[in-house]
Amino acid sequence: MAMVASSALQVPQSRIRELAEIAMKMEGVLRLYFGESNIPTPDYIKQAALKALEEGYTFYTENAGLPGLRRDLADYYRRIQGVELDPQSEIVVTGSGVQALNVSIRCVLNPGDEALILTPSWPNHSSNVSMDNAVPLHIPLLLQEERYAIDFDAIELAITSRTRLLIYTSPSNPLGWVATEEEQEKLLEIARRHDLWLMADEVYDRLYYRGLKLGDPAPSILRKSSRDDAVIVTQSFSKTYCMTGWRIGWLVARRDVAEKATQLNEFIVSHAPSFVQRAAQTALVQGEEELGRMLVRLKENRDFCLAALRQMPGVTVPSPDGAFYLFPKIEGLKDSFAFCRKLLEETRVGLAPGVAFGAGGEGSVRICYAAERQILEQAMERIGRFLRYFQF
Ligand SMILES: Cc1ncc(COP(=O)(O)O)c(C=O)c1O
Repeated sequence: MAMVASSALQVPQSRIRELAEIAMKMEGVLRLYFGESNIPTPDYIKQAALKALEEGYTFYTENAGLPGLRRDLADYYRRIQGVELDPQSEIVVTGSGVQALNVSIRCVLNPGDEALILTPSWPNHSSNVSMDNAVPLHIPLLLQEERYAIDFDAIELAITSRTRLLIYTSPSNPLGWVATEEEQEKLLEIARRHDLWLMADEVYDRLYYRGLKLGDPAPSILRKSSRDDAVIVTQSFSKTYCMTGWRIGWLVARRDVAEKATQLNEFIVSHAPSFVQRAAQTALVQGEEELGRMLVRLKENRDFCLAALRQMPGVTVPSPDGAFYLFPKIEGLKDSFAFCRKLLEETRVGLAPGVAFGAGGEGSVRICYAAERQILEQAMERIGRFLRYFQF
């Protein structure tokens, strides 16, 4: 019988998706399991897409994306991160953040190579490595007092002659942890010393609460690295501009990888949709005001949920510096999937189970606090009540 390839079968289902599939069949669920806000895409971006359609942006574009969008991205990096990039050779527009991951991992791993991933982390990093018949190895961040920190000794110990890639996410999904400058420098030093590719997933860089002012980005690794370093940054319009359904992102990489990713794009999606690329240009140029308003709301939501969770028995939760997640640890919790399922069935609150995020994730749950305040209030009340009678 013709069979599905074992290399495809060994890629596990996302356990966030598994929980969501159950929740989607239910009525009245407070949906805090996905990483998205329930605010629709701002009107000025929708209008830009409509205008682009009318102007005829319905044809194929360059594999690397419209030259104008890449120029706007280079301007954006200069303005927001203080980094100079060559739009022609160092930036590639992709059909989402996850496609940026997919194509860039494809460019740097051979079958059998090993990739180290700092976890807990969004499961798509590991799954994209597995899809290339390479091996993901998890290095959990350590919770030290009130902050997660990178276990550099564990990284050094895990490096073998097959290690090619080191992936981290800052700001992190699910932790909200943000790499310090010193941590970035150390990661870069390790990558240089061992000839590894260093991949930074920076899709949450604008959702940062520790800057001099709200709106300052979490510092990109591109500030520390030279353009000749083996560094790849994956990025997205999804989170900053509430554009999850539009499927557009980008990557910044050393010229050889950017060139190869551009060519491979032809065989994967060819390019992001033309009119969506035009709308993305508008988002980059006009987006700061709306983003500012969203950040105020997100920070208030974070503080509200933090305070509520810290009142609950057995719950420990560090204050995150970025993204829009809380990742509380629940004392005695051994099976976060079973816990989330029961919470969903009994209270109609949908959370993502910590086990979905790899090593270091079990025993916690992820709460996305980008929902409206009244939804969060109900959710916190129900979680608190559930925890009082849940039998571990
Ligand atoms: C860490 C991280 N990277 C990348 C993405 C992908 O974003 P998108 O594919 O919507 O552009 C997500 C989405 O949840 C994420 O959490």
